[in-house]
Amino acid sequence: MCGIVGCVLKNDKVAPILLDSISKLEYRGYDSIGLATACDGKINLKKDAGKIDEVNSKLNFAEMPGNYGIAHVRWATHGDPSKENSHPHLNSAGTIAVVHNGIIENYLAIKEDLISEGYEFKSDTDTEVIPHLLDKFMKEGLDLEKAVRKVIGVIEGAYALAAICTDEPNKVVATRKDSPLIVGIGEDEYFVASDSPAILKYTNNIAYLDKGDIVILTEDGVTFKDENDKVIKKEIDVLDWSPEMAEKEGYDHFMIKEINEQDVAIRNTLGEKKKIKAIVDDVKGTINRVVFVACGTSYHASLTGKYLIESLVGIPTEVLLASEFKYSAKALNDQTLVIFISQSGETADTLKALDAANEVSKTLAIVNVRGSSATRRADYVIQTQAGPEIGVAATKTYVSQLIAIYLFSALLADDEELLKRLEKVPDYIDEVLKKQGIIREISHLYKRDKDAFFIGRGFSYPIALEGALKLKEISYIHAEGYAAGELKHGPIALIDEHIPVVVVAPPGEDYKKIMSNLQEVKARGADILGIGAKGDKDLIDESDNVFLINPEVDDILAPLVYIVPLQLLSYHVSVIRKLDPDKPKNLAKCVTVE
Ligand code: G6P
Repeated sequence: MCGIVGCVLKNDKVAPILLDSISKLEYRGYDSIGLATACDGKINLKKDAGKIDEVNSKLNFAEMPGNYGIAHVRWATHGDPSKENSHPHLNSAGTIAVVHNGIIENYLAIKEDLISEGYEFKSDTDTEVIPHLLDKFMKEGLDLEKAVRKVIGVIEGAYALAAICTDEPNKVVATRKDSPLIVGIGEDEYFVASDSPAILKYTNNIAYLDKGDIVILTEDGVTFKDENDKVIKKEIDVLDWSPEMAEKEGYDHFMIKEINEQDVAIRNTLGEKKKIKAIVDDVKGTINRVVFVACGTSYHASLTGKYLIESLVGIPTEVLLASEFKYSAKALNDQTLVIFISQSGETADTLKALDAANEVSKTLAIVNVRGSSATRRADYVIQTQAGPEIGVAATKTYVSQLIAIYLFSALLADDEELLKRLEKVPDYIDEVLKKQGIIREISHLYKRDKDAFFIGRGFSYPIALEGALKLKEISYIHAEGYAAGELKHGPIALIDEHIPVVVVAPPGEDYKKIMSNLQEVKARGADILGIGAKGDKDLIDESDNVFLINPEVDDILAPLVYIVPLQLLSYHVSVIRKLDPDKPKNLAKCVTVE
């Protein structure tokens, strides 16, 4: 949902660094890009609609002069993707430039007032009110920092923003409310950015802004002020992520790189066991109900959590979509543990639900991005160790969320045997990854399909949902994930010889039933792709194509391993269809609007 970067350098040209940094945030929005740098009392502005590479080959951002500036990638909310609506936005005199991530809910009223005072607007965006407000407040005698403080008092909604002004050279002033913004403190180079991959190449020293904080970057360093305008010191988090983690490192796309990193992501997250045990010890015996809250892929991880907690621990567990949470919020009490799952820790719907749940219940957030808003608001935090995920489609963060949920549930149930079995999951994933060529071949058979079904039962039902979501978001093939037993209550009417059905059939107590469901769709002519255990002769005989997995992976472990061939399927179908799996149309990795 838009990415922003701001940077002040002591001795160097800023544009190449801004371009490099903002490119690392393209997962946040890719319908427009713009940079503003300043020198000699003048702002240089280049911006247009399009992906970064396309626009850069036209505009050549790197040649812009100046040692301080701001940059933006856009995911349109107000106004279509166009040059005029691209950020940065300027005041009429062209002396102030602003980039913004989020939504200003009262911008129409502000805009009307500013127009009546003679301000002229060039775009349809909500953002453009900010440079005009800054212009107005600076004309009243405020400096840039005080003007930004006053703007915060006027605008409502979710935002992170950064501004520069030619009257105050070599300075970037930035603030945030509900959208993320981190500060990077290098040697003679200072940054603000929506997320750390943007600046990993330049510094590992990160500070996190709280709501209403203002940060002032100058050539000489960084000053933080809190919402009461008091100068404050911030703790510096030294990230152990390397710059290569935010690069493709020889892979064609981030998505396939990240799929291939899943064994490592799980191994690293298993290392959090001790910390998870401390949380379990704290909540054990104090809760009689668990509610998971999440969106998208994280919602599918939550569904697996319900099956695990109910079957292993016997505590009633529900799963709510974060955007629907408020309708159930009244039913929470202090014996409910509400678990929020979010790779970004910044999803607006999830954060809103977290704030509401905090008032009555214990809250636990399972999050991948360090220092993100969810980690700062929940009572307990489990940090998944997937490393930075750049591809828009969640893959390694998903399996990392799952392993964290498995650890939590197994510890809550004192299930030593399951805890032991989890240690072997990275090896099982590794075995699947070694055979990824098979899925690449199979993918060619699905490239022209318009629809697909994915079916599973019990623990395999969320696998079917997630497999279908991956295929539709990356390949634009309409796909439905269904509980296999439910198919005959409606959707089977759609099955014919043109519809492929992916049947998730691991060994376990539901095996015979899922095989009956396979027969039902096969009898209607469906083309079957079976995902099952090595040596499963029945599945091999009944399917048109199969992908086979180590038989030690039974139904309980299946969500962690059986999802991998389905991620690979969606990736390869997308590539074969000449799409960009890292940047699916209309989607953003981090959705900071409700
Ligand atoms: C977006 C992303 C999805 C993600 C969902 C929830 O829609 O494109 O991949 O699953 O948000 O994000 P979260 O960061 O809360 O897990």
